[in-house]
Amino acid sequence: MANADLRTFLDGLGDELIRVREPLSPKHEVAALLKQAQGRAVLFEQVPGFPGVRIAGNLLSSRRLAARALGTTEEGLIDAYVARSGQGVPPVRAAEVPVQEVVHRQPADVGALLPLMTHHEQDAAPFLTCGMVLARDPATGMRGMGVHRMMYKGGNRFGILLANPPLSLYLANAEREGKPLDVAVALGVDPATFIASIVKTGPLGPDKMDIAGSLGGAPVELARALTVDVDIPARAEVIIEGRVLPGVREPEGPFGENTGAYFTNRSPVIEVSAVTHRREFIFPALVPWTNDVDTLLALAGGAELLGQLKGLVRGVVDLELVPGTSSFAAVVAVKNCPSHEVRRLIHLALNLDRRLKVLTVVDDDVNLRDPREVAWAMSTRFNPERDTVIVGGTEGYIIDPSTAGGSGSKIGFDATRGAGAQFDKIAMPPAAVARARAVLSAIDKGQA
Ligand SMILES: Cc1cc2nc3c(=O)[nH]c(=O)nc-3n(C[C@H](O)[C@H](O)[C@H](O)COP(=O)(O)O)c2cc1C
Repeated sequence: MANADLRTFLDGLGDELIRVREPLSPKHEVAALLKQAQGRAVLFEQVPGFPGVRIAGNLLSSRRLAARALGTTEEGLIDAYVARSGQGVPPVRAAEVPVQEVVHRQPADVGALLPLMTHHEQDAAPFLTCGMVLARDPATGMRGMGVHRMMYKGGNRFGILLANPPLSLYLANAEREGKPLDVAVALGVDPATFIASIVKTGPLGPDKMDIAGSLGGAPVELARALTVDVDIPARAEVIIEGRVLPGVREPEGPFGENTGAYFTNRSPVIEVSAVTHRREFIFPALVPWTNDVDTLLALAGGAELLGQLKGLVRGVVDLELVPGTSSFAAVVAVKNCPSHEVRRLIHLALNLDRRLKVLTVVDDDVNLRDPREVAWAMSTRFNPERDTVIVGGTEGYIIDPSTAGGSGSKIGFDATRGAGAQFDKIAMPPAAVARARAVLSAIDKGQA
């Protein structure tokens, strides 16, 4: 198994883990340090007001960390993800349940138990940004989970944004019967399970716990929650149990979203029935609109979409979700793909992914991870009148400020050179490049 739990993952990082001994406040200060230290995992060893508690963040803020999370190499990351996410390793019953070492039933003040974090300047309250929310479909009994951010409203109440399936469907099914939806929020799970929780699965599955087992290389150990009808990962650091109240919607936000913009909404409300945790628990942090979000989306969104497109259009080579765009923008590279096929590819991609809004297609001689190269293809191979595809009347994605409250539209750019184009990209002879690299490397070593 890659990592049995969050602790194993952190232990495995050794000296790569930044340990912060300065007692930084969960209000703004922890988030500010994490933003400055992108790319490096951080453990805050002292949290003011919470003796014995630590906060861990930036856990997936680089491909290197994501590779560690899956127990693979950086180069093999996407292939490992694709190969494993298609398989399933079902969960097992846990022999022991560390996350229930300490139990608080009917807590009056959850904010006194957990170091809830405030991230951005205009955030209305502390928000849980990396809660893995687990529930059962009242209609089918099927298990589902997703990452859903939660606004702390004081006492035992949280707002929750349930904008995506499967949990949005489970709530709709519960509300149809006028019943609350039992939920458990797992905080501080092993990173492979966390990644699995945001994989896109259809309404009929597969079970994301099976994907978690497959990504992590061993079955997830599950136990019963104490006050709700939900299975929980036994080796999480913290569990919040509660019920989403039927028919209730309250103002939520402003909240600095993964889009990089503040967002407000009217959202469902959870009443907490229990908080359980390990004795000296590690609280997880995920700062919105950072590399962590890019990595999560690159795996659970980008790798998935690439796999689908490869199966549908000949010549698709690679795909990159543009960092910082909350997966609204992507670049696809193709090889020997005629213009009509590029057009089909654009329509397919924009329709397969609800969130994808801006797609650029380039040839495979363009490095799709280098904004300079993509801009070059757009400037020299793209002819706006001929090479633009616009799809109108699409769903306005809830957190996209440009579609707030209305419908959306999507656009595709064919920045491939097209048939008959005579202009080759300039390049230097590979032998000269190799020699230049060797000479420079020798100079660097001599100066080191
Ligand atoms: C960092 C992060 C935060 C998310 N926050 C929310 C959220 O607050 N509300 C929500 O409904 N979905 C949220 N999602 C998406 C859900 O977890 C979703 O279930 C998952 O991505 C499945 O994809 P699908 O909705 O396209 O099927 C978030 C995803 C990520 C990566």
